[in-house]
Amino acid sequence: MTLQIGIHDIAIATGHYALDLALLAPVHGVDFDKFRVGLGQEVQTVVAPDEDIVTLGAAAAQQILARHGSEGIHTILFATESGIDASKAAAVYVQDLLGLPSTVRAVELKQACYGGTAALQLAAALVARDPGGRVLVIASDIAAYDLDSSGESTQGAAAVAMLVSAEPAVAVLDPVSGVFTSNVMDFWRPTYRSTPRVDGKLSISVYLDAVEHAWKDYEAKGGHSFTEFAAFCYHQPFTRMAYKAHTRLLEINGCAATPPRLEADLATTTHYNRRIGNSYTASLYVGLVSSLDHGEDLTGRPVAMLSYGSGCVAEFFSVTPVAGYRDQLRADANRSLLAAREPITYDGYRQLRMRARNGSDGDVAFDTVTTGRFRLSGVSDDKRIYLSLAR
Ligand code: HMG
Repeated sequence: MTLQIGIHDIAIATGHYALDLALLAPVHGVDFDKFRVGLGQEVQTVVAPDEDIVTLGAAAAQQILARHGSEGIHTILFATESGIDASKAAAVYVQDLLGLPSTVRAVELKQACYGGTAALQLAAALVARDPGGRVLVIASDIAAYDLDSSGESTQGAAAVAMLVSAEPAVAVLDPVSGVFTSNVMDFWRPTYRSTPRVDGKLSISVYLDAVEHAWKDYEAKGGHSFTEFAAFCYHQPFTRMAYKAHTRLLEINGCAATPPRLEADLATTTHYNRRIGNSYTASLYVGLVSSLDHGEDLTGRPVAMLSYGSGCVAEFFSVTPVAGYRDQLRADANRSLLAAREPITYDGYRQLRMRARNGSDGDVAFDTVTTGRFRLSGVSDDKRIYLSLAR
């Protein structure tokens, strides 16, 4: 019998504040409908000064450990493009915060928003080699563009943690993948910058071309036929991007991209991203969780997954939910997580951004803002100090 490998558990976390984009629209001199309808974004998560990719990632992973314990976890793969250190892996801080054994391998991965998918595929390969072991995958990012730039409306922050194992309780990672890599400058962030350089319009057209190439590679490798997919999840830099991408995929497959068809295929995958914003490496998997939390029973029915990371790498693959997966979901908790964020005014958000550290400000202690279990209490001698608050 073929070994089934996939997602045994999946959990999300997001930051402390919620910025209503109705407050950002007048600052940009546009109608809120440009964001709400044109981009499909209503709210974006803003992180508190005592939160970062480590605290978000640990908060997501903690939910998995609380349910499954740490037995068998031998590797943490931490995907991010909001790295806090050019050398040390964020995964090492997480190993410490979660109290995982020193025998755990901890490493960080990067390729823009594609990094989470790279981590998932590498995790599956590690489990194939040692089917008794488990790998903790964390995708955690904070998307911040220049103030007043057109990208500002697409900011956000979230983390997703996945426990990858044999005989998974949530979804099998199907074996076929279509991949596309191309050296293009649509979005990039040199190490000396805190915000990315981005050519927004180019990035959309490169994403769409990447969908087409990755799908063609997937087809050539003998994946599922287009009509077999029960749902479609796309990387969502803004939720309308999923609609643009799916329109392209429908057309390639000779289907009319009518509004009812698009809604039927995509609506369930957008609920959380619409209110979180872009979470880069986590976004595709936030979309998957939204789809599982809100969709019909998908047991045994493949869900198409399209991962895109600027620069660029794209991958088309699928996951197939297994019997009983609905018992593993945290739909109520996920909805509460979003609802519990503290609303922030535009001025409050702007002050947070202006005060953000540039990385060379010397020692600092952060006020306690987050109500989460993990917090960044400060930086001393260029060392980040994290706290885990027992509940
Ligand atoms: P923009 O110039 O602010 O917006 O750029 P626009 O003028 O293109 O308008 C956006 C949409 O709103 C348009 O719809 C308008 O018609 C519509 P479309 O033509 O695209 O269908 N609109 C309205 N709709 C209703 N009522 C109104 C109204 N007004 C206008 N009143 C852009 C938008 C996304 C380019 C910008 O926000 C940006 O640069 N964002 C960052 C880059 C990005 O998200 N790129 C996406 C693809 S690349 C990617 O996914 C990778 C990424 O996640 C990074 C990584 O991989 O690490 C970004």
